[in-house]
Amino acid sequence: MEKKKEEFFKGDGEVQKTVHQSIEVRLQNLTKEFTDKFGKITVAVNDFSVVIPAGKLIGLLGPSGCGKSTTLYLIAGLLKPTAGSIYFGDEDVTNMPPEKRGIGLVFQNYALYPHMTVRQNIMFPLENIKMPKLEALALAQEMAELVHIGDLMDRKPNQLSGGQQQRVAIARALVKKPRVLLLDEPLSNLDARLRLQTREEIRRIQRETGITTIFVTHDQEEAMSISDEIVVMNLGLKQQMDRPQSVYEEPINMFVAKFLGNPPINIFEANLKGGQLVMKDGEVVARGFTQEDQEVFVGLRPEYLRVSEKGEITAKIDLVEHIGRDTMILCIIEGYDHLIRAIVPNDRQFHVGETVKFNCSKLFVFNGENGERYR
Ligand SMILES: Nc1ncnc2c1ncn2[C@@H]1O[C@H](COP(=O)(O)OP(=O)(O)OP(=O)(O)O)[C@@H](O)[C@H]1O
Ligand SMILES: [Mg+2]
Repeated sequence: MEKKKEEFFKGDGEVQKTVHQSIEVRLQNLTKEFTDKFGKITVAVNDFSVVIPAGKLIGLLGPSGCGKSTTLYLIAGLLKPTAGSIYFGDEDVTNMPPEKRGIGLVFQNYALYPHMTVRQNIMFPLENIKMPKLEALALAQEMAELVHIGDLMDRKPNQLSGGQQQRVAIARALVKKPRVLLLDEPLSNLDARLRLQTREEIRRIQRETGITTIFVTHDQEEAMSISDEIVVMNLGLKQQMDRPQSVYEEPINMFVAKFLGNPPINIFEANLKGGQLVMKDGEVVARGFTQEDQEVFVGLRPEYLRVSEKGEITAKIDLVEHIGRDTMILCIIEGYDHLIRAIVPNDRQFHVGETVKFNCSKLFVFNGENGERYR
């Protein structure tokens, strides 16, 4: 499936068009193994299949070493897969050299040429393809304006802030009108405020161009905030792909539930007995399960705990933290030796040592062995 999007209408009567293509990217049973000099094999990407819809921004999210960069380099063609295929639209690009694939790549460290001006940096990919100078100049200017650095064209990289340098890198990645834009942790060198600003910029640029974009990050909040859909990855394996809110609210397993959420989800052991979910102190917190009796893990997001006189969970407050609009309390619950977090409304005071009761508006139950979620 391929669609085209026309963008960019300039003032003074003249209409300039930049046509960016939107294309579906399909990874089919993609596997990448590395063998070190002792013959030890690392499976960096393991039988990974996803369909990335044309024109969408997908966040590829997972802990360090889970295979995110490797996946990106496979899509870019910088690495060859051990097995599996990559399609751009209907075209099998698995064995196509990187320069033919039509990808734009942005790394964590901007990798700008320090001795070149911003203009020369952005134009560099066009010189490689021998585009006529005037055309290349116009295109570079257009891309610079798209990323809002049009007035910095004569500066050298060391005269720019980190966020501005990253925009130059993005403009350079866009200048050849790639079919796919690949971003590998593009914000991790920026301070908190610039990170926020630049990620909004990336979102805007992606929307304006409609280029299918894959954004790699290990930062769940970043992925949640800018992605149309996120793919959660662990140990080279795809865990789940869905809209950010769906992954958060309906995690497929305990890994995903724990990886998303700040403050993190509370996890504790419990038992399924006769279809009831029984806590260690004997309280029944949920009913209606069809699974056989077994030990399970319960996942409770801090905001799913509600203070209530008739709550089933009894807890003693250990710490009270005011976090902006909300209050977070850390409590010890009966029958357990670890703390749980609850986000509570600010309309009443909570004190250390006080006993409170909670009920839960929602909870997750995970298989005690493989962490799969029961629904
Ligand atoms: N060239 C290589 N040779 C051997 N092993 C490699 C090579 N590149 C990556 N690996 C291994 O493959 C696994 C995945 O690495 P990758 O760089 O894809 O992880 P990542 O998810 O990008 O991590 P990070 O968030 O730290 O960047 C890791 O175990 C890594 O050590
Ligand atoms: Mg990486």
